[in-house]
Amino acid sequence: MTAPAYNLPGVTAMPEKAPHATSSGVAVADTGARTVSEVMAQTQVQQVMDALDRDLVGLKPVKSRIRDIAALLVIDRLRLNLGLAAQAPSLHMCFTGNPGTGKTTVAMRMAQILHELGYVRSGHLVAVTRDDLVGQYIGHTAPKTKEVLKKAMGGVLFIDEAYYLYRPENERDYGQEAIEILLQVMENQRDDLVVILAGYKDRMDTFFQSNPGMNSRIAHHIDFPDYEEPELAEIAQHMLKAQNYKLDDEAQVAFERYLHLRRQQPHFANARSVRNALERARLRQASRLFANPDKVLSADDLSTLNAQDILASRVFQTKQVSP
Ligand SMILES: Nc1ncnc2c1ncn2[C@@H]1O[C@H](COP(=O)(O)OP(=O)(O)OP(=O)(O)O)[C@@H](O)[C@H]1O
Ligand SMILES: [Mg+2]
Repeated sequence: MTAPAYNLPGVTAMPEKAPHATSSGVAVADTGARTVSEVMAQTQVQQVMDALDRDLVGLKPVKSRIRDIAALLVIDRLRLNLGLAAQAPSLHMCFTGNPGTGKTTVAMRMAQILHELGYVRSGHLVAVTRDDLVGQYIGHTAPKTKEVLKKAMGGVLFIDEAYYLYRPENERDYGQEAIEILLQVMENQRDDLVVILAGYKDRMDTFFQSNPGMNSRIAHHIDFPDYEEPELAEIAQHMLKAQNYKLDDEAQVAFERYLHLRRQQPHFANARSVRNALERARLRQASRLFANPDKVLSADDLSTLNAQDILASRVFQTKQVSP
């Protein structure tokens, strides 16, 4: 099935256009910047990049790829200012990695960077999965996909577990219809919508093998590595600090043991597991304090997680099966 070539009706006719060379080749306004510093000064890109560095632990290769993309966009801005119009660079991306490695978080930062540099009008991110795009019955998929595209237009469309879009075992799968529509829009409206696909590396590789059209439209493949134990501990510190909690010394040691054990268990989801573990520890702390109703609670009592709060986790009870 081939979707007709279209620009989504009612979606492109927004008053403000992203200020790069449009698909129609219209020249854009010169912002006056002639140096990289001037572009940086005119935008909040540096601030977004600094925040990315500061807030996200590890992810070195990811951060360096994001910097490369930002550099490309800054240079493109300078080119446009001098009237060296070219087609907008292709910015569709694929983020591969295991659960909880920061893909959604980085995609949101990416949307901000793209917005700061004028590649998308609004910098919002619409996160979807297959079910938001693909219908159950004939004729349902195109309207669903178009509705999502309409919402995402001017920003970033983030498709999580994108490999589910393609189900080779099902001959009449409607996912293919959604893919066709996406491909059209990714090509024709790439100056107003950036698509980021996300998913496990091996499954995305298989998906691209079966969908070469999609593969050829993705300019940037970025791999999110699993976190090392010290990185996970540091991520925990970031999360605790952001919420005004802390681990006392014994809890810190217990939490490091927790991470070591949890990492080897099934369904470990990197930073997401850290977040969940801290949530549960917080719950136990609350029960612990609650059990002592007449105790005057200091700020320190209320913000400290102790070893007991960590060690009560099931992770310490599960018998480790040695290989
Ligand atoms: N490098 C990091 N430093 C600090 N916090 C992080 C980091 N990576 C992820 N997090 C936090 O961990 C949680 C999970 O991250 P995120 O949702 O971005 O991962 P994901 O790869 O999209 O996971 P999933 O595949 O489960 O959707 C978020 O709360 C995020 O803020
Ligand atoms: Mg996610």
